[in-house]
Amino acid sequence: MDLNINEIIEGSFQIIGGNFANAGEASMQMKSKLMEIGVHEAIVRRAAIATFEAEMNVIIYAAAGRLHYYISPDKITIKIDDMGPGIENIELAMQEGYSTAPDWVREMGWGAGMGLPNMKKNSDEFKIDSVVGEGTTIQMIINFS
Ligand SMILES: Nc1ncnc2c1ncn2[C@@H]1O[C@H](COP(=O)(O)OP(=O)(O)O)[C@@H](O)[C@H]1O
Ligand SMILES: [Mg+2]
Repeated sequence: MDLNINEIIEGSFQIIGGNFANAGEASMQMKSKLMEIGVHEAIVRRAAIATFEAEMNVIIYAAAGRLHYYISPDKITIKIDDMGPGIENIELAMQEGYSTAPDWVREMGWGAGMGLPNMKKNSDEFKIDSVVGEGTTIQMIINFS
């Protein structure tokens, strides 16, 4: 694939817990960057889905977080770290359908327990680390070919 990259493309976003009004800001900005440089639509979609789910989890579960993406000619790397409760049992949290989302979040249409599994499914590399009482860090890499 011939990408139109002649600069380092990266972006950084602050995500505030509970701020649903800003949900999707980081993933949408990243998505338009990827389209702008000519990344295949199916790959852009994977990156956008994975990033949006990560963003939502910070908004729903953490006090605050940061999302950073870095585009190189062959891939995009997305890192999300938050200050929050952390995840006690990562293996359980990774299971499809597992969710601790409160009722008011479910009423908004969230909390199907598919976020983490879909982040993993849509990434070529997926790493998650968490310290209970401190926060969670996720790194995802999506290759362009
Ligand atoms: N950033 C996070 N901080 C704390 N807990 C999290 C975080 N992300 C996910 N979790 C936990 O993992 C569970 C599964 O997450 P996910 O697969 O995105 O499903 P959902 O958000 O629909 O519950 C959540 O219900 C929550 O308990
Ligand atoms: Mg989620």
